[in-house]
Amino acid sequence: MHSTPPHPPPPHPQSFPHNSPKDPRGHPLLCVLLLSLLSLLLLLLSLSSPHSPPPPSSSSSDAAASAAAAAAGVAEIPSIAYLISGRSGDGDRILRLLLAAYHPGNLYLLHLDRAAPRAQRERLARAARAALRGGARNVHVVGEPDFANPRGASALAAALHGAAVLLRLSPRWGWFVNLDASDYPLVTQDDLLHVFSFLPKDLNFIQHSSYIGWRESRRIRPIIVDPGLYLSTRADVFYATQKRELPDAYKLFTGDSSVILSRKFIEYCILGTNNLPRTLLMYYSNMPSPHLNYFHTVLCNSPEFNRTVVNHNLHYVTWDMSSRKEPRLLTLDDVANLTRSGVAFATQFAKDDPALDRIDQEILGRGPGRVVPGGWCLGGGRGDPCSKWGSPNVLRPGRRAMDLANAIAQLLTPENLYSHQCIWD
Ligand SMILES: *[C@@H]1O[C@H](CO)[C@@H](O)[C@H](O)[C@H]1NC(C)=O
Ligand SMILES: *[C@@H]1O[C@H](CO)[C@@H](O)[C@H](O)[C@H]1NC(C)=O
Repeated sequence: MHSTPPHPPPPHPQSFPHNSPKDPRGHPLLCVLLLSLLSLLLLLLSLSSPHSPPPPSSSSSDAAASAAAAAAGVAEIPSIAYLISGRSGDGDRILRLLLAAYHPGNLYLLHLDRAAPRAQRERLARAARAALRGGARNVHVVGEPDFANPRGASALAAALHGAAVLLRLSPRWGWFVNLDASDYPLVTQDDLLHVFSFLPKDLNFIQHSSYIGWRESRRIRPIIVDPGLYLSTRADVFYATQKRELPDAYKLFTGDSSVILSRKFIEYCILGTNNLPRTLLMYYSNMPSPHLNYFHTVLCNSPEFNRTVVNHNLHYVTWDMSSRKEPRLLTLDDVANLTRSGVAFATQFAKDDPALDRIDQEILGRGPGRVVPGGWCLGGGRGDPCSKWGSPNVLRPGRRAMDLANAIAQLLTPENLYSHQCIWD
């Protein structure tokens, strides 16, 4: 285990069993199923809020409660595994993002690049513990960090490392979400978990395209070396003079670094016996920024997974108009559009940008230095609505859960889903 402080995994692994591998959902049925699930979701949302799936229960009766909930047609609450990554000096941003995305039923792994001194990591772990009042058993800090240079392959190695640690830490999470320290949520975790509880567990949300264009000369054909993979001090990537052909053994897809991936797919990448994920890893290790291509290419080239791909990562991103190659920093001017967007996260903000304060106040209802209140908060003293912790199985989704459900329903209509899925042209 490469993780400190060594909090043990939560002691009650039975509350959120995920899909068995024998899931009867065949791919041709997926879309019918999605539609019925979504109509159910929209119906439930319009009928009632707050909606609290299994009632609070003592840990010994959790299994019975979830069986009863399943019998009553109430969806199971999923758990999300977050990898939050930053560079030296990003400790405060990571902490703020952690509090904005915190829920006691999720799992969090915080990664500060190896260029950050150890003291920053320890300070982050202490600050997280203090902010969460010792309840932070589901928050971990990577203790043996990687260099994660976004220009080279080390960023991808760090993401895979994080996913592997998360798999080891808990058997019960359903989705892997990677966030950068410059990202921020646009919905509460109660909203997100509520909506995700109605989705098939094998969906992968990943923005992808086979359009290569300018990337062919700048990002696909060059051969680069990332010293972050073999030097113990920081050094930037360098380019070889030769260029290589485009591959014809598989199709290349490219996209964004932010992804929402099913547990099943992460297990395929990290533990699977099919060699495609490793072959592609070797191929991509000499490409600039392979974390923008890797999961995308594995998913779309795997017959087992290529029908589970939704071509959107549920992030709000706007592109720098001059280059369209880098996301533009979001500011207060964007907040109105962010609020309207209906998606779950936004990429990317400057540190402590006033837009974040506005999102805290208007969207998340979060006070400074506090977590976002949710159904698990039982009130308490000194103006902190979450100083007493209740059951993580009680969700109190708000108005924005409806917007998120609508946005996902749009993405999952058969026309949208299949006409944007791993299209090769
Ligand atoms: C998924 O893979 C199968 C088998 O290779 C292929 O027939 C199908 O067209 C692929 N679907 C997509 C959406 O790429
Ligand atoms: C907000 O969205 C509208 C409509 O899509 C667009 O015209 C406008 O430029 C956006 N505002 C900002 C600040 O991006």
